[in-house]
Amino acid sequence: MPKVSLKKINSLKKKRVGISALTSYDASFARLADDCGIDIILVGDSLGEVIQGHSNTHSVTINDMCYHTEIVSRSIQKAFLIADMPKGSYETKSHALKNAKKLVGDNMADMVKIEFNGKDAHIIEHLISNNIPVCSHIGVLPQTISNRKDYKKVGKTKDEANKLISEAILIEKSGSQILIVECIDSATAKIISKTLDIPVIGIGSGKNCDGQIRVIYDLFNISFTRSTKLATDVTLPAIMVSLSIIFIYLFSSLFFDSSPDFDMRVLFGVLLVVLGLCIICKYFKD
Ligand code: KIV
Repeated sequence: MPKVSLKKINSLKKKRVGISALTSYDASFARLADDCGIDIILVGDSLGEVIQGHSNTHSVTINDMCYHTEIVSRSIQKAFLIADMPKGSYETKSHALKNAKKLVGDNMADMVKIEFNGKDAHIIEHLISNNIPVCSHIGVLPQTISNRKDYKKVGKTKDEANKLISEAILIEKSGSQILIVECIDSATAKIISKTLDIPVIGIGSGKNCDGQIRVIYDLFNISFTRSTKLATDVTLPAIMVSLSIIFIYLFSSLFFDSSPDFDMRVLFGVLLVVLGLCIICKYFKD
């Protein structure tokens, strides 16, 4: 399969085929998402939460973003790669261009993402006129919120909705080629997606956007620092915890002297036997 281009992403919007996007920060998850056929991978500054263990994204630096973008870029073959510009890295036009150039290019990202605070149109225009493709992010902006409990849906009232729609139009006029809408009321997100020509990708903004993006740790529900309603069920974390416990008690401690090296398939086999026994016990109990 050839590399996903911006042209291909635009054509998905035209054909009304949903655009899929996931975050990744390391080689293994990036390869997994890429092999599954994801359209877009975002090296998000959510890495401040899920990789670095902070309660928000604020302390992520441009060097952190370069480090993770280089790893992800080296590990994928097809997906379109976007890298976040972290908080404080795009305050003036020259500062933004200097930092964006570190993230885009050979063996790096195809596009940068900025959180649009209403006054950033000149930053977008400057990056675009210097051949740096830009994705913008509106709605709830993680770089301006310290605590995840303060994440509230926006765009429910008429005034809020009109403000967001005007921002989205301004962003498109400024040259941004993709828009991410986070925690926006679904009716407002639908209007934005229908009004703009550029693809609008939602997170927590209802099903009527041109695509959906998720933080991969939320998809697998394996983050301890992000509490979000978007997390899926508990099966995967339960399997991971069970495998770790079986490893610690059965293999690492009990058999340590006799069998320090073992095939990981044995571990999974033990887990399956334990799960099978649980199901049989439940069957006879009922
Ligand atoms: O940093 C991130 O992961 C993001 C997504 C939530 C869109 O910006």
